[in-house]
Amino acid sequence: MSDLRDQRDTRNDYGNVGLDEVDLPGTPLALFERWLDDANAHGQYDFTAMTLATADAEGVPSARVVLLKHFDDHGFCWYTDTESQKGQELAANPRAALLFYWPTLHRQIRIAGNVERLPDADADAYFASRPAGSQHSAAASHQSRVIANRAVLEDAVDALATEHADNPIARPARWGGYRLQAREFEFWQGRTSRLHDRIRFSLDVERWSTERLSP
Ligand SMILES: Cc1cc2nc3c(=O)[nH]c(=O)nc-3n(C[C@H](O)[C@H](O)[C@H](O)COP(=O)(O)O)c2cc1C
Repeated sequence: MSDLRDQRDTRNDYGNVGLDEVDLPGTPLALFERWLDDANAHGQYDFTAMTLATADAEGVPSARVVLLKHFDDHGFCWYTDTESQKGQELAANPRAALLFYWPTLHRQIRIAGNVERLPDADADAYFASRPAGSQHSAAASHQSRVIANRAVLEDAVDALATEHADNPIARPARWGGYRLQAREFEFWQGRTSRLHDRIRFSLDVERWSTERLSP
């Protein structure tokens, strides 16, 4: 049996699908959309899952996965508890990075930029669209706080479900959305023998420039 603790001899072949300058669309958003579509088409589970990296006021980093809920020219949006660890870090330091990794395609995308809160109207609309069970859980859970045990949480959800059996629960004020406005993208395509392709798009005033990075 192989030793799980030592993976130095584990190697995967990433094939030879390339990322060539001649195939690049004019904007990184168009390439993001193409790759997201590919991830979905290739059955990548949770293809909208992205790692969100934040840092506190001292620069101490932290990362967790959230789901991309919508995106457009203005940025990439997700929803969460704004009083959670990530919410507090974003309040202190509104810069973040997003990372998508789609192993079925040997692709990774890094995105970095400034983060802003979405308007309450967006949070209201998305919260109202969620199943009642998710709404009750969001209202009962003060995300990232220490709790005594699971029963505390389940009891709070049960109480809310009873209280709101016939009337929808309002969005808790602390629950909301964020938008990351991208200033930099890096598209990584895994290739054979570690000779991967890396293309970086950087925003300079209103124009995107591209560079190839060494893998
Ligand atoms: C696949 C996946 C999707 C997730 N989606 C979200 C999400 O959209 N919003 C959210 O607040 N947490 C989401 N989480 C939970 C977060 O990773 C994290 O545990 C939570 O947001 C608390 O993070 P924090 O304490 O750093 O603020 C998701 C976790 C996974 C594994």
